[in-house]
Amino acid sequence: MTDSPFQPLPGAPLRELAARRGIRIGTALDHALLDGASPYVAVAAGQFNSVTTENALKWDHTEYPKGVLSWERADRIVSFARAHDQRVRGHALVWHRQNPAWVSEDEQSPAELRALIRDRIAVTVGRYAGSIACWDVVNEPLEWDGSYRESLWHKALGPGYVAEALHWARQADPAAKLYINDYEVESLCPKSDALYALAKQLLLNGVPLDGIGFQAHLVLGRIPTDLEANLRRFADLGLDVAITELDIRVHLPADEARLAQQAEEYASVVRTCLRVPRCQELTLWGFTDALSWIPAEYPEYGAAAILDDGYAPKPAYHAVASVLGETEGRRPGRP
Ligand code: XIL
Repeated sequence: MTDSPFQPLPGAPLRELAARRGIRIGTALDHALLDGASPYVAVAAGQFNSVTTENALKWDHTEYPKGVLSWERADRIVSFARAHDQRVRGHALVWHRQNPAWVSEDEQSPAELRALIRDRIAVTVGRYAGSIACWDVVNEPLEWDGSYRESLWHKALGPGYVAEALHWARQADPAAKLYINDYEVESLCPKSDALYALAKQLLLNGVPLDGIGFQAHLVLGRIPTDLEANLRRFADLGLDVAITELDIRVHLPADEARLAQQAEEYASVVRTCLRVPRCQELTLWGFTDALSWIPAEYPEYGAAAILDDGYAPKPAYHAVASVLGETEGRRPGRP
């Protein structure tokens, strides 16, 4: 972050533009940064009408010693969202990462693991019934070739764990929208084909699945050209489709040409969502390069967000605002 004072972003807030187009624009939210007045708070509150719990509801954040439940992080996000009239996406109930150290195949039998994850879902979803509108119930269940990821959940419960998790979530909050969320499923490819087959089968079996989350951690220059066709086939099953974790990482250094290309690519993802009626949420995985998860995970990459390190708008910010602000093809203001 630079030392220059924060300049309010120009033009109408993204959330206002998005609402006029009948979609929600969201961001992942860091529970630790919500107190007081800061550029982070100003942008988070002012620009977005949906927020996703970036880490606060991952199991390692809610129950680090066994049996001691800590909700204060997630509660902070929920009350921030309430104060700013934002919807909350809860993330992520069943995942192979960020589980507490005490959850492991060495410590628990398959039956014990099943009881633990069942209780985690029941307690967490039940606690936030009425405050959390949709859930990434199962996160990243598949491998790139379409096979199931050999997670501890798959190993302990078998492939039926996806359906079981969705049923447990539905029981805990019948009104919440329930999602499977995954990455590298944005294009037509073996992984998205497998996700499509899984979703279709779950629906045939009467499993409560409401939507698919397409994370969309994209790489500059490699934006899928078949995103729309892919979203549409899931929508045609009767599912909502949401872009849940959008960022577009750049191989560093991010010069002017790369940032201009990034702007076009952000615009194209937003345009695609707007063209698909069941795509009513587009969430960014954070909004400033200063806090993006990318540099820690992908060496040599960065500059993935729409604001720079100093919270100044990048070309990508203007591009997103401009596409949301187009009046053509406007859908009746929905959410
Ligand atoms: C990331 C967070 O942004 C980081 O703060 C954390 O250290 C690791 O996880 N897919 C997901 C998200 O579903 O939960 C991940 O979030 C990014 C990839």
